Amino acid sequence: MTEAWSKPITVEEMYGDWDYDAAVEMLDRSLSPRPGTMIFDVVGSLGIDHRDVVLDIGGREGQHALAMAERFGCHAVSVDPVPANLSRGQHFVDDHEHGRLVELRLGSIEKIPMEDASVQLVFARDMLGHVGDLGLAFGECRRVLSPGRFMVVFEVFATPLLYPEEEAQLCADTAGVSERLSVEMFESTVSASGFSVESLEVLGSEFVEASQEAGTAPNHLLHVSRLRRAKDNLIEAMGEMQYRVMYGNALWSIYRMIGKLESRIYVLRSD
Ligand SMILES: C[S@@+](CC[C@H](N)C(=O)[O-])C[C@H]1O[C@@H](n2cnc3c(N)ncnc32)[C@H](O)[C@@H]1O
Repeated sequence: MTEAWSKPITVEEMYGDWDYDAAVEMLDRSLSPRPGTMIFDVVGSLGIDHRDVVLDIGGREGQHALAMAERFGCHAVSVDPVPANLSRGQHFVDDHEHGRLVELRLGSIEKIPMEDASVQLVFARDMLGHVGDLGLAFGECRRVLSPGRFMVVFEVFATPLLYPEEEAQLCADTAGVSERLSVEMFESTVSASGFSVESLEVLGSEFVEASQEAGTAPNHLLHVSRLRRAKDNLIEAMGEMQYRVMYGNALWSIYRMIGKLESRIYVLRSD
């Protein structure tokens, strides 16, 4: 399904007397998208401070755990199942001014290496898309959370503009689980798992727009063009698996920009 207008544009209209340059200028103006760091404002609004332990689940190299330790003075434990993430991340932790507040642990959301009721916030940024059993994952998050405390989830979901074949290929190329792209399935698992939705922020394409404007993300559109034109050479140079991941990641970002995917931040309360 694509966005459809009922009446076709005529050639006379398209090339008629209207100001193309003014329209381009309008589109070159920023809409002031919120940057990815706004997720820390959400965390801040929950009153996290130096007495709290934050679990950054699927924390990769611990960069967000470090950012939260720096901003809130909290202790942060970053848990990730990929040993290479932990060894790369340990260098960042060792070199960081607030690294003493951060610990990296090997583990997964299905079996979180933490005691019951030992954390005051679970932070799950862009990682639930890899998880097969969401109910099990939420159960573990509830187990480690102090009662009545919160879980902040940033996740990307499919919109009706994403075709099923696009979804299947995207998930295959990014180690994703197709069902995790469904808002309905996410929200029903939230309520079946003993969480309630405290707040929801639908960001749409804001974070990717902001990173493109700031020049902090690669030019994914250009990358896809090159990945397609130089497919054989690039596969030979980087290997097929890496080629597919680079292609999948670039498409992921483009789909977010063109509305086939949308980002959301949920704050969930453990009831
Ligand atoms: C897209 S990265 C996001 C990393 C980080 N949270 C961020 O926002 O930059 C997804 C992360 O989830 C981790 N991951 C995948 N499956 C997981 C699981 N079952 N439990 C915990 N983490 C998982 C991956 O190792 C990876 O570091």
